[in-house]
Amino acid sequence: MTYKNDYILSCRDIYKSYPMGATKLEVLKGANLSITRGEFVAIRGASGSGKSTLLHILGALDMPDRGDVFFEGKDIDSFSARQANEFRNKKIGFVFQFYHLLDELTVLENVLLARMAHSSAVDWLACSAPAKSRAHQLLGELGLSERIAHRPFQLSGGERQRVAIARALMNQPDVILADEPTGNLDSQTGSGILEIFEKLHSVNQTVVMVTHDEKIAARAQRVIRLADGRILTT
Ligand SMILES: Nc1ncnc2c1ncn2[C@@H]1O[C@H](COP(=O)(O)OP(=O)(O)OP(=O)(O)O)[C@@H](O)[C@H]1O
Ligand SMILES: [Mg+2]
Repeated sequence: MTYKNDYILSCRDIYKSYPMGATKLEVLKGANLSITRGEFVAIRGASGSGKSTLLHILGALDMPDRGDVFFEGKDIDSFSARQANEFRNKKIGFVFQFYHLLDELTVLENVLLARMAHSSAVDWLACSAPAKSRAHQLLGELGLSERIAHRPFQLSGGERQRVAIARALMNQPDVILADEPTGNLDSQTGSGILEIFEKLHSVNQTVVMVTHDEKIAARAQRVIRLADGRILTT
């Protein structure tokens, strides 16, 4: 089934609940959202309103109980296993509040992992030189050239988040999904991270950012609110 393919990513009538003892906690109750290519959208909402849940569903990290997610107008439910993996690995770049970097790997390796994740050993050998060159370039653009051999635990919070952004950008994703990307940072460092998203937006990168912070949200091109399990129409 196709739906509104002028949108890069959209969802319709999303319901999601979690079991809670004998009952269910209904988190999303008919959420609808449409993102246009090149938009920088902030999703605001109180803690516990379901922002992370919605973002995970949009990126196919989690499944709704019912409702549909469409990527370029195509229902992601209809994807083959290969298409679904490609969607998660190549089309979407995730950025999380707590970075989710691997401390056993260097900064460069963390970024390269995004490319290795969907390559066979043979493919990886064939593409590793251009991949390394892209990783170096991204880390350079994000001001991390001097940190490529560091391990994440040797970096500041802002540096870790910039590594996570480089990792998210590695496969030239169609959409960046960022969950409270400044939530663990002081306001000045957080502002620097927002500047990166603003710069990405200026070159047409689609960014969907979840935040409970009004000031952070105001930096986006469009702010929408999640409350009572739905996206409020403004
Ligand atoms: N795996 C889970 N099992 C049970 N309940 C869950 C699970 N994940 C989330 N919840 C509950 O669902 C609700 C929404 O969670 P979610 O993490 O989406 O909220 P949020 O808006 O991102 O909040 P925050 O701003 O604090 O990050 C919360 O009440 C949470 O406790
Ligand atoms: Mg959350």
